[in-house]
Amino acid sequence: MTTKKQIHIGIFPVDVGHHIAAWRHPDVPAGGGSDVAFYKDIARTAERGKLDMLFLGDQMTAHYPEDESFGRTSRMTRLEPTTLLALLSGITSHLGLVGTASMSYFEPFHLARKFASLDVLTGGRAGWNMVTSFDDMEALNFNVGMVADPSLRYRKAHEFVDVVRRLWDTWDEDAFVRDKASGRFFDPAKLHLADFKGEYFSSRGPLGIPRSAQSHPVLIQAGSSDDGRAFAAAQAEVIFTAHPVLSEARKFYSELRERVGRAGRDPDHVKILPGSMTFIGRTREEAQEKYDLLQSLIDPQTGWMVIKKHLGVDISGLPLDEPMPAFKASATGQMSRQQVLIDAAARDKLTVRQFYERFVGSKGHQLAIGTASQVADEYEAWIDGEGADGFNLMLPSLPNALNDFVDLVVPELQRRGRFRLDYTGHTLRDNLGLPLPQHAHPASAAARRPKAADAPLRSS
Ligand SMILES: Cc1cc2nc3c(=O)[nH]c(=O)nc-3n(C[C@H](O)[C@H](O)[C@H](O)COP(=O)(O)O)c2cc1C
Repeated sequence: MTTKKQIHIGIFPVDVGHHIAAWRHPDVPAGGGSDVAFYKDIARTAERGKLDMLFLGDQMTAHYPEDESFGRTSRMTRLEPTTLLALLSGITSHLGLVGTASMSYFEPFHLARKFASLDVLTGGRAGWNMVTSFDDMEALNFNVGMVADPSLRYRKAHEFVDVVRRLWDTWDEDAFVRDKASGRFFDPAKLHLADFKGEYFSSRGPLGIPRSAQSHPVLIQAGSSDDGRAFAAAQAEVIFTAHPVLSEARKFYSELRERVGRAGRDPDHVKILPGSMTFIGRTREEAQEKYDLLQSLIDPQTGWMVIKKHLGVDISGLPLDEPMPAFKASATGQMSRQQVLIDAAARDKLTVRQFYERFVGSKGHQLAIGTASQVADEYEAWIDGEGADGFNLMLPSLPNALNDFVDLVVPELQRRGRFRLDYTGHTLRDNLGLPLPQHAHPASAAARRPKAADAPLRSS
């Protein structure tokens, strides 16, 4: 019997949902994005649904000053991801916990230490979303004023990750003998300095954090420009991306896997997860009503601001029923996302109004509106059509849309043999089916401790 390809699923909560009007939904706690009880609820539900991971994005800015939409969005506040994930690790036992951190504003040693700590604390469930930060608003909070151009950001990023990996390889697997009788705590021969001196960064090490149950955190990436893809192919183990239709997702999937192969890595050791926004109903009509309700709650000024942010230009003054004009992606911002939107406008010959209605909610990610069975059909088509290894859920509103997903879609995927009935391992690598990373000092790899010995002490 051939086993069906399994679907990997992450949940990506942003504030109280990805839909810009989520905070106005009657079933959503408007202030949830700053409320620890809200996040605990999301994490518990995600684990009840056996999801692979919970992923927190981050930008180190509040969008100030903005335009007429200022004061009308719930996205001005955001908790620091690793702090929040450390808290969630105490109430979960299998869910992967992934945080975003910028390679432009931290030093490699900071991030190596933060994420290695999280990985040990979670028993090997941590992941790091490696971003270069594209937004000038973030740059204004540091000593730099403006973001560097994308190719320089990615050149630095390659070196940054090399340093981080070397720091994470400070210790051999069996370095800590902790022999009370002899008095020897660790074997100095099994400690390695990073001794890294590069063009942009240098760090000597050692990193004073032992290897975790999964050796080191899973590396995740989400940029899709040419430089972004080259970086992903060389460094990432999970790639988040945005595609509204399967044909685009397939192109990206095959091109990325080919690049991974050319970088000397096994393409099956990289999982590609497009974002997915789902509106689930017990009937198609109920799902459509949920979608229509949120769309009706969009404040128009905020809606145009969302479009401007993702398209790179302000189109709010254009005649609504005229075709979308041809645009070129700008040389700054999220260039690859701009291209996704520009391509969709041309491919489907959208008017300005249709463009707004389609993208103000989903922002260029897959949008699935329907019953659990219809959403499962769509997911299977993307998985079997070689467009994805799974999905990163960018649910419109929380916690209601996550409850719908876990109560309706997960059982349907399980019935179809596409999704785990229970967790089979303890680490994020186990959830994703990823191998342990190669140790820079190969003599160490043979000496891996048994996993059970790595399991953290846990209180309920
Ligand atoms: C699903 C997804 C999530 C992302 N999350 C973040 C984030 O949390 N913080 C951030 O600074 N950038 C985030 N990005 C942006 C990318 O990291 C990248 O900087 C951006 O796409 C520009 O790079 P590119 O031109 O190579 O695509 C995200 C992108 C995608 C597709």
